[in-house]
Amino acid sequence: MIDFQNKNLLFLAPLAGWTDLPFRQIVKKFGADVTISEMISSNALVHNSTKTFKMIQKSSNETPYIVQIAGSDPKIIKEAVLILNDIDGIDGIDLNCGCPVPKVVKQGAGSALLNDLSKMSKIIQTIKKYSNKRYTSVKARVGFNEKNVTNIAKICEDSEVDFLTFHGRLRKDKYKNDKIDYFSILEAKESVKIPIIANGDIVDYEQYKKVKKITKADGIMIGRGAMGNPWIFYQIKNDLPEINKDKIKEIILEHFDSMLEFYGDKAIPIFRKHLHLYSKNFPNATLFRDQINRINDPLKIKEYINNFWNQS
Ligand SMILES: Cc1cc2nc3c(=O)[nH]c(=O)nc-3n(C[C@H](O)[C@H](O)[C@H](O)COP(=O)(O)O)c2cc1C
Repeated sequence: MIDFQNKNLLFLAPLAGWTDLPFRQIVKKFGADVTISEMISSNALVHNSTKTFKMIQKSSNETPYIVQIAGSDPKIIKEAVLILNDIDGIDGIDLNCGCPVPKVVKQGAGSALLNDLSKMSKIIQTIKKYSNKRYTSVKARVGFNEKNVTNIAKICEDSEVDFLTFHGRLRKDKYKNDKIDYFSILEAKESVKIPIIANGDIVDYEQYKKVKKITKADGIMIGRGAMGNPWIFYQIKNDLPEINKDKIKEIILEHFDSMLEFYGDKAIPIFRKHLHLYSKNFPNATLFRDQINRINDPLKIKEYINNFWNQS
């Protein structure tokens, strides 16, 4: 289960379109402690979409595994929770209170809940009441248009949330580089007793150390810093400011095998977007991308990966 005493407690952030089962499996194997599904619409769950069920499938190594849901209607949330209750292996339900996308906000879900803390509390309590899972958690931003971090943290604590993640930005700041605010996460940490997880712009080993120090958070969550760079978890866990090419190659090949197993023939076009990022910043990346764009034979792709990371 989640060890909040662990000095290097690491979460993989939910990233729609990226953190599918093979990616989560690989970061889990190489250092992440907790993995979370991509955001799942509670409506989609209730409407029994096959695609949605595939999205929440868990890898055998993924314990503890959290499914993140989004929604604004307690009745639909309740139904979604009852559906998740019937799926074994899910250890917790996380409520999305951070998504800035207008379509989600218009429905009163995601970061819109930061403007209506009594509704947020009602939804959390609905999850707590009906869920048979070990954890109920929340992932939020530090406010919608204005900072509201201590109120959000207190509402979560009063609603008996097991842990709370803050992405250190306001909803209005979307992903603007200059708006990351780790001191608000520290404020949250100092205002409640529940574990606080810090998230936002942790892209390397140095930044990890810095954010841990500023926020005093109980754990760190990494999203975009893992895209094209899943070995960041291995580096942090093993205290390695640098990572060697052989380890990178090993992780990429394992990721590919896991993709093939999960997606079958459909794996290759999806894996190309990962390979494009993996090869970034290595010599001859353009040529490598051009080559792998033209081949569809998994064995050939592996050969190219081996050659590329042997010569780079
Ligand atoms: C492509 C993409 C997809 C995302 N999908 C989700 C999601 O499904 N649920 C969620 O809570 N946050 C989502 N986020 C936000 C991230 O989890 C994270 O909070 C944010 O990117 C800041 O952390 P980072 O700098 O480590 O990426 C997404 C972000 C990106 C860039």
